[in-house]
Order: sequence, then structure tokens, then C-alpha cells
Amino acid sequence: MHALLFSSQPYDQDSFSHAPGAAQLALHYQSARLSEDTAALAAGYEVVCAFINDDLSAAVLQRLKAGGTRLIALRSAGYNHVDLAAAKRLGLAVVRVPAYSPHAVAEHAVALILALNRRLHRAYNRTREGDFSLHGLTGFDLHGKTVGVVGTGQIGLAFARIMAGFGCQLLAYDPFPNPQVQALGARYLDLPDLLREAQIISLHCPLTTQTKHLINPQSLASLQPGAMLINTGRGALVDTPALIDALKSGQLGYLGLDVYEEEAQIFFEDRSDLPLQDDVLARLLTFPNVIVTAHQAFLTREALAAIAATTLDNIARWAAGNPQNLVEG
Ligand code: NAI
Repeated sequence: MHALLFSSQPYDQDSFSHAPGAAQLALHYQSARLSEDTAALAAGYEVVCAFINDDLSAAVLQRLKAGGTRLIALRSAGYNHVDLAAAKRLGLAVVRVPAYSPHAVAEHAVALILALNRRLHRAYNRTREGDFSLHGLTGFDLHGKTVGVVGTGQIGLAFARIMAGFGCQLLAYDPFPNPQVQALGARYLDLPDLLREAQIISLHCPLTTQTKHLINPQSLASLQPGAMLINTGRGALVDTPALIDALKSGQLGYLGLDVYEEEAQIFFEDRSDLPLQDDVLARLLTFPNVIVTAHQAFLTREALAAIAATTLDNIARWAAGNPQNLVEG
């Protein structure tokens, strides 16, 4: 059986070629992002393996189906980018990797907190330029601070455990409270109360119609002045232009983003020779108290190995008529 991996990077080739079961499949790697323009590349491939910024809209699925594709194997946990109703209508099965390493994402969220708080990005540049001054680098003790965790599933739990280890007070919001998070001493509150009380807020919920623009002008106005916001969930959880106003006024004191609403056309590519066309992202990058990473929270050796192993297992089980990790609309 032949499988085509769209949006594949050298690290994907490495992890997939070393994963158990790789020899049983003919794996083909394509660096192009899946879109209406590139869907034709999948003609003749029974399995298309896609990542988070691939386009899996109805029009693209229609083209894949016409080319003979029968299975969409997502290399991600999130599936908000798939038109599941269209997949069902076309008889395309969709499988995903529900969990690979919650620690990878949680630890990246913490890395953003530490870097923003202690201004590591500025200190790094300064010392390399021979500037050993400390002005503007004052941070705060994390110990004793109030941290709000929005979405307390696997990643939110891993994040809460780390922050509890720092001696933070934990607040949580999730329609389904997690007893393991409660056992850490976290207090579950309604979202507006959490946003009002927390000094650091980290988003770990999925993107759905309910969570789109969960952080918006009104919720930003309710934050503690100078609060820190971390988003490693999905870009559209926050209304990005509203962040710029909150940063300009100082209402938002720190911002760490690993995901961006309009990232699909930008992230995962070296664009350093090109003018940045996205004015919102360009403005965000001018703030000294903002760190943007290009959707790299998942990127650890352990997570890549787990993504490859589960994806190949998903494909093998589907081929054997015993599918697992199916996503249904
Ligand atoms: P999970 O399914 O274990 O947990 C999600 C939690 O969010 C659940 O407890 C659920 O009840 C909660 N939730 C659902 N609706 C909510 C709402 N309206 N408000 C607050 N909470 C809500 O998922 P997991 O593995 O913890 O992943 C969370 C998200 O992290 C994913 O959906 C994905 O978007 C993102 N992610 C980002 C990665 C990155 O590289 N930046 C990598 C992997 C996941």
C-alpha cells in the first residue's frame, strides 16, 4: 500500500523511516502543503497523511477521493481543519493521533513563560552584542503566582503539574473538571472569573465553535493589568488583532504564542528572504514582551516517534479492517 505524506519535513522522514511497521508500507514524502492546487499529487495513493496546516476542506477531499484516496491519516491530535461531514459523504475514513506527548506541549508552554518572565530572548541578544547590562530584564518569582489553565485534558494536566511544582496557585476552567488537576489543589472556576483572577493564563482547549475567539477584546479588558497570556492550543482561540491593542495599552504584559490564526500560509517555511505580508503578525513581532514560535510545541524526539508509530499503526489497522482512532463528524 502506498501512502503520501504532505507537509513532510526532514524530521518526519527520519521518524517515519525508523518507526515500527515502516517496512510494510511504501511511504512517499512530499514537502508541499496539501491544498486544492497540490491535491492532484496524491493521485493513486490510497492513504494521504496530513498535518495541521494541510487543507482538508470539502473541495480538497473531493479531489483526493477522485484520485483514489480512501484514508486520511492525520499526524495530529487536532482535527479542526478537516471537513468531517464531507469526508463522511465521500466515504473517506479519517484517523488521528489522539495523544503523543502531552509533556512536549506543556513544557513548551512553560518555556515561553520562563523566557518571557526572565526576558531570556533579550538577554541572549544582549550578551552576544557585548552588552552585559541588566536594565529592563527584571522578572518576577513564579512561586506564589496564580496560574489559570483553560482546558485541563492531557496537556493541561501536564502543564498544571509543572506549575504546581513551581509553587503556583492553580485555577482551572473546563466543562469537564479533571480530578487529577483538582488533586493538585486547582480551583475550578467559570472562565470570566479565571480570567479576572489569574496572573498567567495558558490555553489548552481544542478549537471549536464554542472556543473560537475565547480571548477577545472583552475578555482582555477583564484581565489583571500586565497579565501573561500563553497560547499553545490553536491560533483562533484568540482574536489576534485585539492582542495588539491590549499590548499597546499595557493591559497585556506578556504574550507567548506557538500558534497563530493565519499560520497556515506562513509557518513551517523559511521566509527570511521575503517581506512578511501579514501585518498583524509583523506588528506582534515588534513588541519586546512577545515571543512567537512557529507551532513547535509538539517538536520533541519523543513526540515525533510516537506520532510516526501511532500513524503507521492506524494505517495498518485500517487496512486490516479493524480501524482505531477514527474521527467521525
Ligand atoms: P484533550 O482532549 O486531552 O483535552 C482538551 C480539554 O479541553 C478537555 O478536557 C476538554 O473537556 C476541554 N475543553 C473542551 N471544550 C472546552 C471549552 N469550551 N473550554 C475549556 N476547555 C474545554 O486534548 P490535549 O491533548 O490536552 O490537547 C489540547 C489542545 O492542544 C488540542 O486540541 C490542540 O489544539 C492543541 N495542541 C497543540 C499542539 C502544538 O504543537 N502547539 C500539539 C498538540 C495539541
